[in-house]
Amino acid sequence: MPSPCSLILRNVSLVGGRVADISVREGVVSHAGASGPADRTIDCSDLLVLPAAVDMHVHMRGGTQSAKEDWESGSRSALAGGATVVVDQPNTIPPISSPDALHARVYEARSHSLCSFAINSSVTFDTPVKGMWSAGALAFGETFFAPSSYGEALSEGELRTALREIHACGALATVHAEEVADGNDTDLVSHDRLRSAAGELRAVEAVRQCNSAGCRLHFCHMSTNASVIAAAAAGSVEVTPHHLFLSHEQFEPTDALGKVNPPLRSEKERRDLWAAWDAIDVIASDHAPHTRAEKQAPFRDAPAGIPGVETMVPLLLAAVLEKKISLADVIRKSSQAPAELLGIPPAGFSPGDRADFALYPRSALPVDPDTLHSRCGFSPFEGLPAVFPRAVVLGGEVVYEEGEFSRGSPAWFAGKGFFPR
Ligand code: NCD
Repeated sequence: MPSPCSLILRNVSLVGGRVADISVREGVVSHAGASGPADRTIDCSDLLVLPAAVDMHVHMRGGTQSAKEDWESGSRSALAGGATVVVDQPNTIPPISSPDALHARVYEARSHSLCSFAINSSVTFDTPVKGMWSAGALAFGETFFAPSSYGEALSEGELRTALREIHACGALATVHAEEVADGNDTDLVSHDRLRSAAGELRAVEAVRQCNSAGCRLHFCHMSTNASVIAAAAAGSVEVTPHHLFLSHEQFEPTDALGKVNPPLRSEKERRDLWAAWDAIDVIASDHAPHTRAEKQAPFRDAPAGIPGVETMVPLLLAAVLEKKISLADVIRKSSQAPAELLGIPPAGFSPGDRADFALYPRSALPVDPDTLHSRCGFSPFEGLPAVFPRAVVLGGEVVYEEGEFSRGSPAWFAGKGFFPR
């Protein structure tokens, strides 16, 4: 008689139509088919079961920025949105620009995060690229090729040098490609004009030109159809839910809750972005929380960035229920593709896969910011249809269920340059 599995998800409908019981042992899937005894069994007949998301672009803040977010609140937000792995961006205060800063960030996340995590290295003119790689950085960036909140832009020469060094490590460079014009940043329309779609496209081309080394490039948060197509020719492409679901026309002109870099575009550009769906490799949230008070400053002073880790998969699943996109695409772009690009073991339904899942009902509800977990306390997606998970499994343990969290065993995913001492 075999010893019981820790968890069995019974009657899981897999993409393609097969229904299987998924057995989990020691944090990974041990069998997909019929099932035996288990410590815990969940019947998933009425549920959509997805490999949990890897959100490869989140700003978890912390430290002096804890009023916006920290690992505790940000990781709750991730889990409650069906993401069990987040990749933290290095534009923290202080930035993650030295091995010591990276070690400290890992320690902070280990102490407070409820979800698994990875930490990227910042890319500045003097980043010790090799040192960051051996300290455990998962990837490099977002590399600011235009200034944004808490990030200064690199020059073309600096980017060229950095890409050469990152390539020598065999690492991935993730790039924030934008062009910023001078002018008065007084409302969402001028913000869109100053950080224009045409400028983003030119920036993609400029980054490509700087990559004579042939480094693996990942273009963060591409905001238009043309940028997606151009970026896809030069690397992997990430798009955010806010550029897919929001346009500046949906906000009052000076409402900084919709201020983000790259900016929300027009309704027409938003619709056109969906036409590039097949060329998008990864959906990531660019979860960039700021406090409501900061967002209420005069528009030009309000920080750019909007929260989204908790609403990312839920908004996509509502689009699946509306038959706008396929469930297979959501799994591919939110979980499989980011894991492959970053070298994180995949979550899935085959033996050996990481047993991270999110279990969703088959109906949508309007986003209600009061029910979300980010400390920032607002959501620009308020009112949009979304499907939130009922339960989330991390490493084979149920860590979120009906609004309650429990501390499981989150993992740190270090990059391939790391060797544990
Ligand atoms: C981000 C932030 O607030 O950290 N802001 C944003 O508008 N996206 C920085 C960034 O990703 O550009």
